[in-house]
Amino acid sequence: MAAPQKPLQSTGIDSRLRDAGLFVRQAVRTFRATGAVAPSSRALGHALARFVDEREDPTAPLTILEAGAGTGAVSRVIAQHMRAGDTIDLVESNPEFAGRLAEQLTSDPDLSGIADSATVHQKLVTDMGPDVSYDVIISGLPFANFTAEEVREIMEYYFSVLRPGGRLSLFGYLYTKQVKAVIAPREDFLRQARSGWVVEEWVNRYGVGTERVLANLPPAWIQHLRRPTED
Ligand SMILES: C[S@@+](CC[C@H](N)C(=O)[O-])C[C@H]1O[C@@H](n2cnc3c(N)ncnc32)[C@H](O)[C@@H]1O
Repeated sequence: MAAPQKPLQSTGIDSRLRDAGLFVRQAVRTFRATGAVAPSSRALGHALARFVDEREDPTAPLTILEAGAGTGAVSRVIAQHMRAGDTIDLVESNPEFAGRLAEQLTSDPDLSGIADSATVHQKLVTDMGPDVSYDVIISGLPFANFTAEEVREIMEYYFSVLRPGGRLSLFGYLYTKQVKAVIAPREDFLRQARSGWVVEEWVNRYGVGTERVLANLPPAWIQHLRRPTED
């Protein structure tokens, strides 16, 4: 007699492989909005989650926004750093990613622990509106693919909903400007340079630290910013 078959269980590895497949398919279809060839590494996630870990007041719960959560590569790492009472809004404009993320909140072992404190919003981050307030914002948006006006609108939005003293961490990829200088059309190179200058403007005013994460595809830089307690 044949041995009874074990029910098939989705492992963390199955789940990551499905996410990577979905990510690559969406990157091909919507590269401007997706802006990456693969989900972020855990090393990048840990560096981005720095201010979920390092708290000014360790007894006060945090309100967190992750913008551009994708398939949840960074969300899973943020979840590890969250403590009781913390809440997180996971905002993602791509309906395929947002749907997958909502599904993962109940089924993924790394995300199900925060299912009661997390909300997935399928929308543009700026459509979250003014009636929200965050202690920590983690931005995964591909600013290098946006126009300077789009980046300025988003940076202004982040700082309008970041509470005084709150932190914003954002990332981009190393050497993209240098590569574009060689292979991209001139207008695209100039567009990226202009959107980079907008980020630089904010970093010059509010930057509190920068990091490089080589263990990511492609290697990344991070900027950490802090909204002053008095503007
Ligand atoms: C570089 S991917 C990062 C995905 C994920 N956080 C990671 O690190 O693997 C950028 C994500 O931002 C989303 N996105 C782009 N523009 C957006 C916007 N204005 N509001 C919300 N999400 C956006 C894209 O659909 C994509 O999933």
